[in-house]
Amino acid sequence: MKEPLLFRKGIPFFFHKTEADFQKDPYERYDSMVLRQSALHLADDLWERYPFQPVFDFAAEYYASFYDSQILETGCGTGRWIATLAKRFPDASCYGIDYSYQMLKRAKEFWIDGKEVFIDLSGQGFLEAIKTRGGQLKNLDLGLAKAEELPFDNNSMDVLINSFLLDRLDDPYKGLQEMYRVLKPKGILILVTPLNFKQAVQWNAFYPPEKLSVLLDKMGFTILKWQEDIMVEEPLDVHGNRLNWKCLGLVAQKLV
Ligand SMILES: C[S@@+](CC[C@H](N)C(=O)[O-])C[C@H]1O[C@@H](n2cnc3c(N)ncnc32)[C@H](O)[C@@H]1O
Repeated sequence: MKEPLLFRKGIPFFFHKTEADFQKDPYERYDSMVLRQSALHLADDLWERYPFQPVFDFAAEYYASFYDSQILETGCGTGRWIATLAKRFPDASCYGIDYSYQMLKRAKEFWIDGKEVFIDLSGQGFLEAIKTRGGQLKNLDLGLAKAEELPFDNNSMDVLINSFLLDRLDDPYKGLQEMYRVLKPKGILILVTPLNFKQAVQWNAFYPPEKLSVLLDKMGFTILKWQEDIMVEEPLDVHGNRLNWKCLGLVAQKLV
């Protein structure tokens, strides 16, 4: 990682996020985002099974080769995916980047500081709050940065992962270019996205998904795996209401 601009409660900032930026970022809101993401990713006891397991499973056959790799997750949120890899591969160096300070604060207290966290979903009908604890991972570093402006050198990562990020970016193309830039030659990109773009210009650029495939090819990636129907059921409440996400998953290798 490059030198941070500043630290806030142990979280390095690589981007100057102003008070106005904080105000307009929905991912800084506690109940709707941090609590919700914590419940989805850190409190499996609330649900019959971990709702995002299909994201993890999609490229699981590649994981074994990551045992001593430099692994970066962009848009790591509360950190479940990157922390799972950090736990599994103690000799790997793992990094999680997100633009939300509140998400990173939660990820740090849960996965690095070993603090117990309370997840109170009474607003969704769960009568008892969950108390849960992650770990004290030594090989995981977190930082606030934009996926479109990563604080890493060119050709520095063996693996880059992200899920539910691409369609949230203001500039997905720039995000992809950054992924390519920081990956080493032969480095692996694992990307899972519901392609739920917010702007017409992005739908035009990246949909149908073949357009993304052509773009990755032009950038210098070769596609190793491609699946357009990874189904993720995101639970909403104790009654069993759900959101259904139909995700594209891809594994791509940087050629040179
Ligand atoms: C829908 S959440 C997904 C979190 C996690 N990856 C998952 O699959 O559940 C989107 C995450 O991307 C982060 N994010 C949004 N825009 C970003 C950007 N430009 N750069 C880095 N992270 C960003 C948000 O703060 C949030 O944590």
